[in-house]
Amino acid sequence: MTATRVPTGTDLTDPTDLTDLAALVARREPGRPLEGAFYTSPAVFEADVAGVLSRTWLFVATEAELREPGDFLTVEVGSYSVMLVRDDDEVVRAFHNVCRHRGARILAERAGSVGNLVCGYHRWTYATDGALLHAGDQPPGFDKGCFGLRSVHLRLVAGLVFVCLADEPPTDFDELVATVTPYLLPHQLHRTKVAAQVDLVEEANWKLVMENNRECYHCEGGHPELVRTFFPTYGYAADAIPARLRPAHERYLRAEAELEQACEERGMPYRAVEELDDRVSAYRVQREALDGAGESYTLDGRSASRRLLGDLDSPRLGRLSLHTQPNAWFHFLADHAVTFSVLPLAAGRTLVRTTWLVHEDAEEGVDYDVADLTHVWRETNEQDSVFCERAQLGVSSPGYLPGPYSASEYQVDAFTTWYLDRVEEHLAR
Ligand code: FES
Ligand code: FE
Repeated sequence: MTATRVPTGTDLTDPTDLTDLAALVARREPGRPLEGAFYTSPAVFEADVAGVLSRTWLFVATEAELREPGDFLTVEVGSYSVMLVRDDDEVVRAFHNVCRHRGARILAERAGSVGNLVCGYHRWTYATDGALLHAGDQPPGFDKGCFGLRSVHLRLVAGLVFVCLADEPPTDFDELVATVTPYLLPHQLHRTKVAAQVDLVEEANWKLVMENNRECYHCEGGHPELVRTFFPTYGYAADAIPARLRPAHERYLRAEAELEQACEERGMPYRAVEELDDRVSAYRVQREALDGAGESYTLDGRSASRRLLGDLDSPRLGRLSLHTQPNAWFHFLADHAVTFSVLPLAAGRTLVRTTWLVHEDAEEGVDYDVADLTHVWRETNEQDSVFCERAQLGVSSPGYLPGPYSASEYQVDAFTTWYLDRVEEHLAR
């Protein structure tokens, strides 16, 4: 255990240049949370956007939100705004939401459908493939071909939409895609529709939101609805299960044996692949059993939608869970999928967008009830929001000193390590 460090005034300095940030990174004690300035400083937030969030693949939407040509979404990350559009050839594209004339934001709405993309300022008009179609009163010789919208890199991963704001995105994303795609395919997300979507703005830094997601140390007392099905032993090594969680662990082992058999019979991958901190496009994927009836995230564990996803023939296939750094987590059940996109807005403000997907043929009120479908994760998100906002208040205090992670918080440590590696890369550029 490292000796407790006495805080000094420098702990609380808002790093205004990269030298200060380098010192902050260098002072980090392994196995402990970050100092407060990482969560509160506008300068660190700018570095996060420039060095981490704009240089990695961000999960921003599902293809189900862009089903028809002309459907669009806008997504904000820091001061970036990105438009996602399905063009007339059905290709989903991403562009900076910035007009090529004098830079006005083109689309103000969060989602909708358009024929063309028209800037409301001087009416420059772009096709959904980004080409400039019309710019009024330009002199002879004006070349529209030079003023198309600026593209943003986009990848579809079995129905999930990722973007990267960098000119040259990390190439190791291909390995992530190759590994996780076979896990995702049975759920056939391209045949889903959005049953519900909730935007929750949390008054907390984006890293606190991510760190909170990467552990279930707080689940037992903090998420009464979730732990009806999510085993609170998550994150514990098998030989380190606390005595009070032994009964849950025994149930977990039995449910896991059943799930593994079901997966083997169907040729579905389920084993954990964990690459959380030693690569840029870092991730974790695993199919694991659920408690209760073992089918879905409901209070009794039974399915929330009668129409199973894809061609799945059993509701009892646990939860396929995927974590991607830096900003997402996902749960794919037999009857629905729920995705979580963390979109940092400012140093102390983060949008968490949760989307519930059901089979495209499932009928609301017949096959599923939205309130039942969304109950557990609505409650869980609200609870997590309170935790994150409390944490933001605490780390903002001069009285904050980082304490040690518990063993079951190893994925928080992995996130923090991953993040600091990205910051160091940024500082070295
Ligand atoms: Fe868009 Fe002028 S800024 S048309
Ligand atoms: Fe939580």
